[in-house]
Amino acid sequence: MPGVKIISTGYYVPEKILTNEDLEKIVDTSDEWITTRTGIKERRIASDSEAVSDLAAASAVSAIEKAGISRDEIDLIINATFTADYPMPSSACILGRKLGIKNVQMFDLSAACTGFIYGLSVGYSMIKAGLAKTALITGVEKLSSVTDWEDRESCIIFADGAGSCIIQASEEENFLSFSLGADGAFRDLLYIPAGGSKNPASHKTVDERGHFVKMEGNKTFKIAVSRMKSVALAALEKAHVAPGDIKLLIPHQANMRIIDALARTLNFPMEKVFVNIDKLGNSSAATVPIGLAQAVEQGRVKRGDLVELVAFGGGFTWGAAVLRY
Ligand code: ACO
Repeated sequence: MPGVKIISTGYYVPEKILTNEDLEKIVDTSDEWITTRTGIKERRIASDSEAVSDLAAASAVSAIEKAGISRDEIDLIINATFTADYPMPSSACILGRKLGIKNVQMFDLSAACTGFIYGLSVGYSMIKAGLAKTALITGVEKLSSVTDWEDRESCIIFADGAGSCIIQASEEENFLSFSLGADGAFRDLLYIPAGGSKNPASHKTVDERGHFVKMEGNKTFKIAVSRMKSVALAALEKAHVAPGDIKLLIPHQANMRIIDALARTLNFPMEKVFVNIDKLGNSSAATVPIGLAQAVEQGRVKRGDLVELVAFGGGFTWGAAVLRY
């Protein structure tokens, strides 16, 4: 059975910067509160003309250029998002069209902030099963399109962005383990109440602000820390890798206090933990692939280094992957 190699990474963040000072003018908050409670100083927000497929395409183009492959070689696109351009068709198909790729398998994957790690595991498995040779996996979100800009608890953490990774069948094996989980019992803590088949869009759902993310931040926070810890340890155990051997932990950037708590409980010194939440906020499925791409770009991850990815999000979903880059 062939191995699966990560041949390149790429990312895109929108140009527009929304600072904490900007948010002070929108909701009753302060730079001091946001900084101490979340670690975020600023975040990127897409323009009105940028849809999720545009963010995804910009990040995919960067990954394809770095891979030095022809677009024709890509025979699988997995686009992890819950803020797709349309309910139907998938943004993966629109992304494929924008990249000039057609007649291959393309689909969106919904696992909220854990979407990229789920997508990576599905792409990996499809290559292992011989169903694909070269896969583009993207984690992308335009959270600003589902953010309630009157809800000071959630609007201060959300952001937009995209990260991509191209993986390919190879003699080499870059993936040591995946560990994934989910529990639908927590739906009410983090969800978008309307716009799906349960509560289709109506004047009432709009009046009730039902198309925006509702989050019970404090309860979500506690479960996030414990699930991210257990799934990170499970993936290390499956990979037979000691935490001390990991060069860089790349966690979902939901809240700096979650990242700090995770690092502390896992005994990871902070210099071995990737953080960009101060500049980019929480872009859900995009944070982990953006982190991986930036870590490679900054030389913090080099070929042969052991890296662990870990995320948690709506569902609740959680997942971790150990790879030798
Ligand atoms: N500015 C000022 N005060 C605020 C703000 C704000 N922006 N937001 C909340 N407060 C107030 C509250 O009203 C409350 O005041 P009170 O004590 O008078 O009632 C106080 O601050 C504390 O509120 P908490 O909700 O306990 O605040 P907390 O410290 O938990 O921070 C936050 C809120 C940032 C949302 C945090 O809970 C968090 O990050 N949760 C996890 C988010 C997460 O991991 N989500 C999953 C991934 S995201 C996804 O899937 C899309």
